[in-house]
Amino acid sequence: MTEPLENKKIVLGVSGSISCYKSIDLASRLVKAGALVDVVLSDAAQEFITPLAFQSITHRNVISNLFEYSSENPLEHITLAREADVIVLAPATANSIAKLANGFADNAISAICMATTAPILIAPAMDGNMYHNKAVQKNIDLLIEHGVHFVGPNAGRLASGLIGLGRLVEPEIITEHIKIVLGLTGDLKGMQIVVSAGGTQEAIDPVRVITNRSSGKMGYAIAEAARDRGGEVTLVTASSLPEPPGIKCLHVMSVAEMREAVLDSCNGADALIMAAAVSDYRPAEIANQKIKKKKGEENNISLDLVKNDDFFLEVPSGVMRIGFAAETEDLLSNAEIKLNSKGLSFIAANDVTQPDSGFNVDTNRVTLIDNNGKVEALPLLSKYEVGNSILDKMLQMSK
Ligand code: PMT
Repeated sequence: MTEPLENKKIVLGVSGSISCYKSIDLASRLVKAGALVDVVLSDAAQEFITPLAFQSITHRNVISNLFEYSSENPLEHITLAREADVIVLAPATANSIAKLANGFADNAISAICMATTAPILIAPAMDGNMYHNKAVQKNIDLLIEHGVHFVGPNAGRLASGLIGLGRLVEPEIITEHIKIVLGLTGDLKGMQIVVSAGGTQEAIDPVRVITNRSSGKMGYAIAEAARDRGGEVTLVTASSLPEPPGIKCLHVMSVAEMREAVLDSCNGADALIMAAAVSDYRPAEIANQKIKKKKGEENNISLDLVKNDDFFLEVPSGVMRIGFAAETEDLLSNAEIKLNSKGLSFIAANDVTQPDSGFNVDTNRVTLIDNNGKVEALPLLSKYEVGNSILDKMLQMSK
């Protein structure tokens, strides 16, 4: 599987709000991600922004009027409605939401929404009082009941000067929600997957920790890939990367905290994928106060460390266990030892000696070794693609 938006047909409906300018950025992100974006503008949207702005980005015809077409197809809106993988309304005004909730089809956006069987995602934008208006809330509830998806609005300063709910969600977050909506019928639908990410931190004293170079990128990429295929994902994270939308995140620091969160989340889960770099040792004691630098002749201090137990072995037997092994030498033999000693279905042996793979980069190079002795060396891939390869193998092995 490549990028989740690659070749997806997305209809982007833009209605009249000052936040229209953000939908240009949204269209640009979708196009960069490989989607085919057809923009449909309401009359009010064209008071704020021109069809040309979108056409320049999407390189496709922009529908700005239900009855005037620059193309040969007089039923272009019906064709778009039928062929779309998803319809996104961003921004959606109170008026557009009311039209959809009440079955109006008097402009191109509402006609397409009425004529489609594709999922619809709405990102509202309006003044705070307008958003809280009972009629608007009733229309939103009705659309949710009808299976329409919503993202936002955000709280903040509104065009009127009011502070409140009503701001259009940022384009990067809308993009993530489009992936979530597209993935709802994916091959991991109905599966619960627990992923760990980041480097644990073991306190030495109130200001110092023992940690490692893990950024969390690998674990987050696996979690996002699983989410984009319809999985219900819990991410146990020791990383400070921003929380990905649509994923339950549990933040931890120490190995003990990670162990507790992972084991709790594994109840009823189908698989555990441990991409986290977990500290093998922790200080025997945590000093209550900051340890002071020694004065005089005494230069060295030593830290007494105790071993952290491996918690893979405590995971309930019905949960498929998938591990990682970050190695700097004897990659395959070291990974095989971990595969067997931790009772794993398979392990991703990760050579971390190359600058383009391992810690804190967006690409990775792993070899998957399973408990039947099958060895599969993957080329250099994005961490998202590595995540998808791991999920493919997980599905194969669970059959
Ligand atoms: O986060 P990034 O910057 O993107 O970097 C990604 C990564 C290099 C950290 C990742 O790809 C990776 O290789 N993670 C595994 C790190 C590692 O070497 O773990 P380990 O060999 O210490 O442990 C082997 C396996 O047992 C791992 O799946 C680990 O999560 C798990 N483990 C380890 C110790 C412990 N007490 N309990 C565990 O479950």
